[in-house]
Amino acid sequence: MDSIKVNLDERSYPIYFGSGILKDFGKTFKKFFDNRKAVIVTNPTVGKLYYKAVEDSLKREGFEPHRIEIPDGEEYKTLTWASRLFDKLIALKADRQTPLIALGGGVIGDLTGFVAATYLRGVPFIQVPTTLLSQVDSSIGGKTAVNHPRGKNLIGAFYQPKAVFIDIDTLKTLPKEEILCGVAEIIKYGIIRDSNFFEYLEDNIEKLINLNEDVLIHSIKRSCEIKADAVSKDEREAGLRAILNFGHTIGHAIESLTDYKKYRHGEAVAIGMVYAARLSLESGLCSNKDYERVVNLIKSAGLPIAITGLDADAIIDSLYLDKKVKEEKIRFILMNGIGSVEIKSDITNELTKKVLSH
Ligand SMILES: NC(=O)c1ccc[n+]([C@@H]2O[C@H](COP(=O)([O-])OP(=O)(O)OC[C@H]3O[C@@H](n4cnc5c(N)ncnc54)[C@H](O)[C@@H]3O)[C@@H](O)[C@H]2O)c1
Repeated sequence: MDSIKVNLDERSYPIYFGSGILKDFGKTFKKFFDNRKAVIVTNPTVGKLYYKAVEDSLKREGFEPHRIEIPDGEEYKTLTWASRLFDKLIALKADRQTPLIALGGGVIGDLTGFVAATYLRGVPFIQVPTTLLSQVDSSIGGKTAVNHPRGKNLIGAFYQPKAVFIDIDTLKTLPKEEILCGVAEIIKYGIIRDSNFFEYLEDNIEKLINLNEDVLIHSIKRSCEIKADAVSKDEREAGLRAILNFGHTIGHAIESLTDYKKYRHGEAVAIGMVYAARLSLESGLCSNKDYERVVNLIKSAGLPIAITGLDADAIIDSLYLDKKVKEEKIRFILMNGIGSVEIKSDITNELTKKVLSH
């Protein structure tokens, strides 16, 4: 079992990854906790597939696992469901030492993390991400949240897990469209930080999509390293961590304008990355060749690169509602070339409109 460390002083934690991790989950879990009780939060889809493996491995090590299920879907990542989780934890007499285990994708991870941050002013939690997107992105970095009717992730906390366990075998049951959402984030890491990794992805994209074990392990490892490094240097997104939002500024606007129904998060990010690359080209920051490499890699992954019927003005209006707007200025993450990005707050609405209408 390989591992990477997220360096955050006393809040540092390991990310374990490899094949067959769930089978021996209890053994490693025991290094962190001696409290007998542990609560596994999952949903019916993931629970049916993987709960038993986690439960058995915990029981083998003498733990007393309890299961809490949340229905499957983004619409349950709410305060109402967080509150139901609190009710169940109180009924189980969970105390400050009782660890919560988030077994599922980003929805389960974000909701469980938020509840862990707030129940009894904070209980320990472990991330066991089972989607590619949550393995390379949402399970690392301590952003936890629930949605509000007025917007996504509006209520939340920075709260780091004690460890992350990534079992690549869980991806075998994940629908192809969900795999691609994770691939979009993986491509993002190459663009923002590592041109060699981007080139590796250009050579291996087919294998990655088809879950070739070596390519998957390398891609997950490199992605987690890049995310862990950004988080270690800027835990609360005061500066550097914002580079992880490449493609997300316009991506979020697209998701919000389509009511989160038309595109999955990773698909909206893929389209957002194409527009961000185009904006970089039009601002004179990157070459046409780099722009085309980004578009071609996203396209060859089978991800969308544009949307039809797009209303540029509505997108621009929506950009101003983003949590990351500072002093009325939209902050774009733009690329200087493959492997390097910068934060730009001086892009005019005219240029943005031109790019969105391209
Ligand atoms: N905290 C962060 O830093 C961060 C970053 C990115 C995204 N997010 C959040 O993550 C969420 C999206 O996460 P997601 O893309 O993992 O979606 P998700 O959690 O909704 O999972 C997608 C679907 O796959 C199913 N599933 C999960 N694992 C499976 C498996 N191994 N086999 C079969 N089916 C499986 C789920 O039940 C669900 O139906 C959003 O709420 C987003 O806001 C958070």
